[in-house]
Amino acid sequence: MSTRREFLGASIGAGLIGVTTTAGVLAQSASRSGGMDILILGGTGFIGPHLVTHAMARGHNITLFNRGRTNTHLFPDVDKLVGDRNNDLSALEGRRWDAVIDNSGYTPQQVGMSVELLKDACDQYLFTSTRSVYTDFTQDVMDEDAPVGPKDIPESAWAGYGPNKVLAERAVQAGFGARTLISRPPVIVGPGDRSDRFTYWVDRIDDGGDILVQGEPTDPLQFIDVRDLSEFYVHLLENSITGIYNTEGPGSALNTVGLVHGIKAITSTPSTFHWVDWDFLIDLGETPQGTLAFWQPPRGRYLNYGFTDNRRAIAKGLKFRPLAVIAKDTLDWHRTRTAAQQEQLRAGLSREREAELLRQWQNR
Ligand SMILES: NC(=O)c1ccc[n+]([C@@H]2O[C@H](COP(=O)([O-])OP(=O)(O)OC[C@H]3O[C@@H](n4cnc5c(N)ncnc54)[C@H](OP(=O)(O)O)[C@@H]3O)[C@@H](O)[C@H]2O)c1
Repeated sequence: MSTRREFLGASIGAGLIGVTTTAGVLAQSASRSGGMDILILGGTGFIGPHLVTHAMARGHNITLFNRGRTNTHLFPDVDKLVGDRNNDLSALEGRRWDAVIDNSGYTPQQVGMSVELLKDACDQYLFTSTRSVYTDFTQDVMDEDAPVGPKDIPESAWAGYGPNKVLAERAVQAGFGARTLISRPPVIVGPGDRSDRFTYWVDRIDDGGDILVQGEPTDPLQFIDVRDLSEFYVHLLENSITGIYNTEGPGSALNTVGLVHGIKAITSTPSTFHWVDWDFLIDLGETPQGTLAFWQPPRGRYLNYGFTDNRRAIAKGLKFRPLAVIAKDTLDWHRTRTAAQQEQLRAGLSREREAELLRQWQNR
């Protein structure tokens, strides 16, 4: 069997990405291009607004369920149900939808409650999980069958984001069986992203000058544009596709040199990139879990973290807009944010810290 690295290398050359695999069931031959009743649990954060806009443009009827706290100004004409996933789902009782999209479930308790209430009230349940369900990124092929959840800890002691998402996935499967759809995205990027992990790079490169890039130019990385993810979700539901999908982009292998030069193509500001060793940065307190969150050093249990296999999703219709488009749209959106939001990013290095680290790196 070829490894993910070998596969990508061969398929890029031959233009072969998109091999059909066995996951997923096409229950209907005709796609439903409009008029589905779709319930979205969440809907007003980051993915939500893009998803709602696209689904409505496709002619679907949307109902939102959330606490009514986040971006309450959005979608004044959409049916909005108010409740709390932790303790009050009463607004969902006695209703029916063709499909539910769950973007706001993090624990098996939350997801189990909504599944129990909706399993006879919806045909399909699409759960937004995460790539973080995988624990061992050393597999040659990091596909949807790779091991999930902590290996050496009893399930009763599982805690944290990834393990809870594994248990939440199981709650969906227990209630919806073959009608389950699970999406495991990596870092989601694009206009509206509040994590700033990708936005940092478009902002930094647009600013120009001497730019620190962590790790090696060959470090692989993956992300998905929020609009590509939203369009794929609607496409999956329209075609009654089920199964588990690594909703990973981009469509072909990308490393950090490709990322930064791809972004550089959208700006005329002069810049020079300086790759700085991971261990040097980690020793100084800048880590891939903290300020440098976006990609991981490709070693240890993260060896193939940047090579999660997206072939099943591609075979079912996942498409990718170009990096330059994602970068330009994200930069344009970023420039509409308040001055404070533009200055205080949630990820990346401050300009002062970056200059200090580059000075230390050059003098080491
Ligand atoms: N961002 C990434 O890079 C990334 C990567 C992988 C996976 N994911 C997954 O993507 C999902 C989050 O996406 P998003 O924030 O963009 O989703 P979203 O649906 O756009 O926003 C979150 C929604 O959840 C609602 N909500 C929060 N707590 C709630 C509660 N207790 N009861 C009812 N509603 C509640 C919020 O509204 P109210 O505040 O008004 O209740 C809001 O509408 C998560 O499942 C996450 O694990 C994200």
